[in-house]
Amino acid sequence: MNAQGGTILVLGGGGFIGRHAVRALRERGVRAIVGTRHPGRRRGAAHAGSDADAAEAYRETHFERLCAPEAWAPVLEGVTAVVNCVGILRQRGRETYDRVHHRAPAALAAACAARGLRLIHVSALGLESPARSRFLTSKRAGEAALRASDADWHIVRPSLLDGEGGFGARWIRRVAAWPVHPMPRAAGGQIAVLDVRDLGEALATLALGDGSRHGGVREHDLGGLHARTLAEHLAAMRALRTARPALRIAVPDILARLAAHVCDLLHVTPFSFGHWELLQRDNRPAFNALPALLGRAPRTVGVAPSAIDDASPASASPAPPTWPSACEP
Ligand SMILES: NC(=O)c1ccc[n+]([C@@H]2O[C@H](COP(=O)([O-])OP(=O)(O)OC[C@H]3O[C@@H](n4cnc5c(N)ncnc54)[C@H](OP(=O)(O)O)[C@@H]3O)[C@@H](O)[C@H]2O)c1
Repeated sequence: MNAQGGTILVLGGGGFIGRHAVRALRERGVRAIVGTRHPGRRRGAAHAGSDADAAEAYRETHFERLCAPEAWAPVLEGVTAVVNCVGILRQRGRETYDRVHHRAPAALAAACAARGLRLIHVSALGLESPARSRFLTSKRAGEAALRASDADWHIVRPSLLDGEGGFGARWIRRVAAWPVHPMPRAAGGQIAVLDVRDLGEALATLALGDGSRHGGVREHDLGGLHARTLAEHLAAMRALRTARPALRIAVPDILARLAAHVCDLLHVTPFSFGHWELLQRDNRPAFNALPALLGRAPRTVGVAPSAIDDASPASASPAPPTWPSACEP
């Protein structure tokens, strides 16, 4: 299906990833509607930014109320494809991981299958390893529901994202500026941080059906140019502001895990038990589909490894590896 000229519903379209998907679609002249729990608030913000066209294009969606396929009927009215960028870091009342990450996407997939709509679902890397966090297991269950559906589905798994306005990205940039970088000892997994603008473009390409050249591939792991540990990523972000490297302090794992639980309990910072589990394993694509979806190399995030001062702790470790791309541009 090619949705060119149609109307694409971006669920979570006011969020960090969703905003960039909406922007990329509108830049291609496509009508994009934003799914949000708060259309009034989002509309007000768009008016304040004098974006009158954008201000009209909202549809109220509460995933915790959309766990049956028939509930999606009014939401999908007049829509030709759907991009699902909804996710929660922490549960609140009826907004549980199971409803938001699993049951609502499962119902959405069934509703899309019944209407012949393409569904692009944003998930995350690192879900295949055993996990205790319900944040992670619910996302895995959501992916499985899509695979089991008859929808024209695509699953997109980005590594960590950088960009303006993201909750996690803002925190990483803030911590990078600190003169001391506390780092859990076990946080040795590699990430391949990508620019959220690149992800927005890749989502638009898939939603518009331009991804047909990927020969039937429906699961797309996406990463940026460099594979780094979190400590190396912090150093690369810090190097954008100063040549002085931060002092890296190893935090015992038990303390890091405790801190993750406290953050979950108090709903503060993006550091959660799920992220504590993710930090201990690689979260970079085995095959990076991003260059092929973009038709160019991904944007650089942070200072390139070769440009980081030799005195920096990040450069004390071997050069970050590159990995095969699914389809070289
Ligand atoms: N950020 C990253 O580095 C990253 C990396 C890999 C994967 N991901 C995944 O990508 C997804 C989106 O991440 P993000 O960074 O864009 O998060 P975000 O900025 O918090 O956006 C999430 C969006 O979900 C919507 N939402 C939340 N609860 C909802 C509910 N109950 N019903 C309907 N909509 C709801 C919110 O829309 P309203 O507030 O407008 O209702 C919000 O705009 C998540 O699943 C995340 O795990 C993120």
